Amino acid sequence: MRQIFILVIVLMANCSSEAQSISWQEMAPGVWKGVVGKPESYDLLQASGATPNREAISHMGKAVFPLAVEDISGMVSDGKTYLRFPLDKAEQIYGFGLNFQTVQQRGKILELHVDNFAGKDNGRTHAPTPFYVSSKGYGVFINAARYIKVWAGTAVLRDSKHPPEPKDRNLDKTWTSRPYSDGVEILVPAAGAEVYLFAGPKPLDAVARFNLWNGGGCLPPRWGLGFTQRVQRLYDADMVKKEADDFESKGYPLDFIGLEPGWQSKSYPCTFEWDPKRFPAPAAFVKDMLDRHIRLNLWTNPYVSPESSIYSGIKPYTASHTVWVGAVPDLSMESARKIFFGQLKKSQVDIGISGYKFDEVDGGDSYLWPDVAIFPSGHSAEQMRQTYGLLAMRCSMDMFRQSNRRTFGLVRANNGGGVSFPYVIYNDYYNHEDFITALINSGFSGVLWTPEVRASKTAEEWLRRFQSNIFSPLAMINAWSSGTKPWTFPEVAEQVRQLALLRMQMMPYWYSEFARYHFMGIPPFRAMNLEEGFGDGTQKQNNMAGLETNPYEEAVIKEVKDQYMAGQYLLVAPMFIGQTSRKVILPKGNWFDFYTGSFAGNGTVITVTPGLDKIPVYVKDGGIIPMMKPRLHAPAIGEKMDLEIRYYGTKPGHYLLYDDDGETFNYEKGEYSFREITITPGASGKPVCTISAPVPGKPNTIGDVRWIFPGHE
Ligand code: GAL
Repeated sequence: MRQIFILVIVLMANCSSEAQSISWQEMAPGVWKGVVGKPESYDLLQASGATPNREAISHMGKAVFPLAVEDISGMVSDGKTYLRFPLDKAEQIYGFGLNFQTVQQRGKILELHVDNFAGKDNGRTHAPTPFYVSSKGYGVFINAARYIKVWAGTAVLRDSKHPPEPKDRNLDKTWTSRPYSDGVEILVPAAGAEVYLFAGPKPLDAVARFNLWNGGGCLPPRWGLGFTQRVQRLYDADMVKKEADDFESKGYPLDFIGLEPGWQSKSYPCTFEWDPKRFPAPAAFVKDMLDRHIRLNLWTNPYVSPESSIYSGIKPYTASHTVWVGAVPDLSMESARKIFFGQLKKSQVDIGISGYKFDEVDGGDSYLWPDVAIFPSGHSAEQMRQTYGLLAMRCSMDMFRQSNRRTFGLVRANNGGGVSFPYVIYNDYYNHEDFITALINSGFSGVLWTPEVRASKTAEEWLRRFQSNIFSPLAMINAWSSGTKPWTFPEVAEQVRQLALLRMQMMPYWYSEFARYHFMGIPPFRAMNLEEGFGDGTQKQNNMAGLETNPYEEAVIKEVKDQYMAGQYLLVAPMFIGQTSRKVILPKGNWFDFYTGSFAGNGTVITVTPGLDKIPVYVKDGGIIPMMKPRLHAPAIGEKMDLEIRYYGTKPGHYLLYDDDGETFNYEKGEYSFREITITPGASGKPVCTISAPVPGKPNTIGDVRWIFPGHE
């Protein structure tokens, strides 16, 4: 349960309409809370139930308050909370949720509103997390379940301490329609809000503190990091079994299959009951699949059909309005949760279903409940919209926890507070370039994102999309509409197979990187901007259309949004359709080609022509990548894996290899270990490698270890 903080000092009187500085209380080393007005009792952290990992935060050490207290202000006026944070001239800010087209957010006006992304970064997105991180190394989080408006360095105070110079637009070429703004201003439509400040010193430290305050990142089961295929809608049990057999016989890895609409007797609205014709014997079917080493994940949205057996029971705990004629359970109420998740548990989880895809819990406005809907808990429609995804994830994780089984699934809405939930966001937008920008941005906001593969026009597109997908949190084909398979394009079927096998080989690396996310708060997929030696990677581009077309247009900032960090050591630079070569920015320090180990560059921009078969990937000097042999399924509980540990470059390398049973929550009781790997260049030129001994009494899944030195003679 979330801790109750008592020592909160409320400086801002409810009626005060003059901005005053906020009084801050240090909650943990480098984490401060400030209160303005009277915050609502229902907020993001309350809805998610996030429990801060205080021990891990303390481990990061003490930090000084990162801003001048007098530069942050707040007040309540007109029943709303007004907040202001300072911005330096050279400062960049990142975050504000899962944006798809831009990484830097300075200069944006956003309304943070849970929604299905509609092609424009305006704050309406699947996870509009009210958190931003500054290039100066601190983070700000607004803990409010409201549609929050943000002016991220656009508004100029009349009495600013750093006012921009007034200029004559007609005579002065340096006139700009966006005069310099020295603040981030935020409007919360509630008469109070809790605000958190997270210290650095580096931006990544601030992100880590935010994640740890939210409970740390999720730790998926090992099988969640394998490969998953979502079959076409209306598949029946035999078709699903055949799909699994095809994967096996053709030698493609597969850990779980997603069933799309069609497994329920009715959907849109849903019954949450198996269809008796397509799945006449669900328990036997699920068991049969588990015997094939294949787990199942079920698509659903939460809107209850009048024909569902739970309809009459749950009706009193549903909203005034429906979605696709389905009743909307008020998941903030225990009575609704009990009935809804009770049905899922009894009918599906108890017979071995391993996870869910909670669809359409985000929006859009045309079908979701309107803001005038009434929920029986008394929470407003707006609050429910901002937290519905959080509630669905929280309850479903609790449901799996009851049987001590971890889950890994999909969701279309998340928000602040949802860092520790084992759910990956996806959508229908399907723009490969923007999918990569979303992957970059996910790391600023404590969420996971998959650039899923669906259909493609050409084999080239198929392969390019597949390549970036296997370097993401969830390697998945979503064939719900197209019915595609990994081998759909025969001319690249073998390349796709090899990529899927590479994903499996890298499982020990991915798993350890998720453990870092969980225990240390470091996102497994991150922007280059969080990487030391990168800089901010921006260039101003003057391509203004002219006065006639838009007299207020500004030069655009060109930024790096097509390469990212995957785990501690890898830099991934996806190729897009039609590209035969691309530029890759290598930060300061030596970087090596992932495939060959050859030196690639140091603090430079390289142009690469990798051919269709390869996605460019680079490894930092001293990089250690623990891998295992190619295989079709994740190791079973208790199974030992032989490792192939790769080492790149010449710098001494250090890695913490995570190990536990891979499936249960026993790690929460301390049943895990980090095995320490160190590699130093030996006198004879041959690296000297060590791995610490297994910790007595802890799960040990590591068999023989072979050391590999790509690029070394
Ligand atoms: C969409 C979802 C797709 C698929 C489909 C099924 O909302 O984004 O991935 O699940 O529903 O109807």
